[in-house]
Amino acid sequence: MLKLITSTVLISAATLVIADHTFVLHNQCNYRVNPKIVNVNCGYSPRCDVPGSGGVPNPAVSYTGPQPRTLGVNGDNTNMTVNRDWNGRIFHQTGKCGAKGESCTMAEFNLDTGGPWSQQSYDISNIQGFTMGMKIEVNDGVGPAVTCSNIYCGCLNAYPPGTDFSGCGNDWPVKGTSGGDKIWTVTFCA
Ligand SMILES: *[C@@H]1O[C@H](CO)[C@@H](O)[C@H](O)[C@H]1NC(C)=O
Repeated sequence: MLKLITSTVLISAATLVIADHTFVLHNQCNYRVNPKIVNVNCGYSPRCDVPGSGGVPNPAVSYTGPQPRTLGVNGDNTNMTVNRDWNGRIFHQTGKCGAKGESCTMAEFNLDTGGPWSQQSYDISNIQGFTMGMKIEVNDGVGPAVTCSNIYCGCLNAYPPGTDFSGCGNDWPVKGTSGGDKIWTVTFCA
């Protein structure tokens, strides 16, 4: 009995170590940043629903952990662990932004396609408003970094303000990377 418990504990510990993404949240602003990790369940993607449930949020794609701490100025950073199949956004909550980042610059992620052979995607969106420079990097040498420092950064780096999805043809701002768990870095004031 004791032996069984021991091996169960070992297996869960190993799973915790390997089964999630690391998000390094890095603040290059000369002001404090309040990062938020929010889910987009489910108005945006049917994948956010439990299949066949007619709208019940799928816990596999929802982040339910603690919110990041406030980041100090000029280089402070914190690491967050985010579940493998997460779909959602990261943004700096200023009070100007809605609860899910509406009206503000945001980094968007669809990581629920991250099986061993399928891509997972990410982009910077200023569609509802440009409020700060941002950069997204992924550590696997596959997905390109995207940086948008101002509203003229272009469709290869971010969705500009005021467009709908066709505003940048073929969803150019969206980048893909390989499947599996990654180390992502989101930089505020890039
Ligand atoms: C944050 O994660 C990165 C990437 O794994 C690592 O290099 C760094 O040491 C981590 N920082 C802390 C404070 O754990």
